[in-house]
Amino acid sequence: MSESTRTDYKRFNQVDRYNALMEIVEGRMTNRAFDADYVVPKEHYEMIVEAARHGPSGANTQPWHYIVVTDPQVKNQLGEHFMNEQNRRAKLGMKFPTPNYKGMKTAPGFIVIAADFRYIRAFPTLNDGSELDRLYKINAERILLQSMAASVMSAHLAAAALGYAVWWVTAIGQDEIQKEFKPLFDVPEELSIIDIMCFGPPLKPSYKRWKRELHEIMNWDRFNPDNFMSDADIDEWIKTRRHKVMYRDESKVD
Ligand SMILES: Cc1cc2nc3c(=O)[nH]c(=O)nc-3n(C[C@H](O)[C@H](O)[C@H](O)COP(=O)(O)O)c2cc1C
Repeated sequence: MSESTRTDYKRFNQVDRYNALMEIVEGRMTNRAFDADYVVPKEHYEMIVEAARHGPSGANTQPWHYIVVTDPQVKNQLGEHFMNEQNRRAKLGMKFPTPNYKGMKTAPGFIVIAADFRYIRAFPTLNDGSELDRLYKINAERILLQSMAASVMSAHLAAAALGYAVWWVTAIGQDEIQKEFKPLFDVPEELSIIDIMCFGPPLKPSYKRWKRELHEIMNWDRFNPDNFMSDADIDEWIKTRRHKVMYRDESKVD
């Protein structure tokens, strides 16, 4: 290998750039209450969606649409819906520690995200109605959802880079919700609203939530059995830890 090629390898050790990225990655924190009086400049919306535009996607389908919501009444309506959904879940006995959705109503930054699931046809599928086709379609749907998440994450990181606290809301899979909200934004029937991104200056400082340690998620060459949780472990985790890791500062999770 030539000396010049070897020197090039320095390109792959740009720790300063990595550290700058990690400052944003680590600093992205969920917050559910924002300064209602703040107005997000139009350029910030553009910068955030510009970051989303560069997301990777299966077969480069880019199956995403971002709808910036500026109408306070519409934000209020959506927030109200989520608050009602919170009550419904409680009544259904879901035992999910549902967050307080009140902050949605006045979130200064508000973006509704729609996915075009028809693009699953662009992924490897048979389209012949067979059992094998069904399995490929499940995989194709996963590809599409991963693509959406990749783009949405870029949007969240961009908002965090601008200094905003962010909130990723996904609780709107059900048909009835689609029917209620699509007309508000003239979203065509063929698309699905899957996420709402709220952001803005936080009312109270964001706090860092618990993250698993590196060794708990990282494996070399083989899956480390120490990292395996049995079904019972997971049930126990949900029972004793989920509510803590969702709503507490990482330093307060025992
Ligand atoms: C795919 C996804 C779905 C989420 N859905 C919701 C949601 O519907 N409502 C909500 O309040 N938070 C939601 N969150 C936020 C998580 O609760 C939050 O990311 C998690 O508690 C970790 O906190 P952090 O974002 O500060 O690291 C979601 C996050 C992701 C990535």
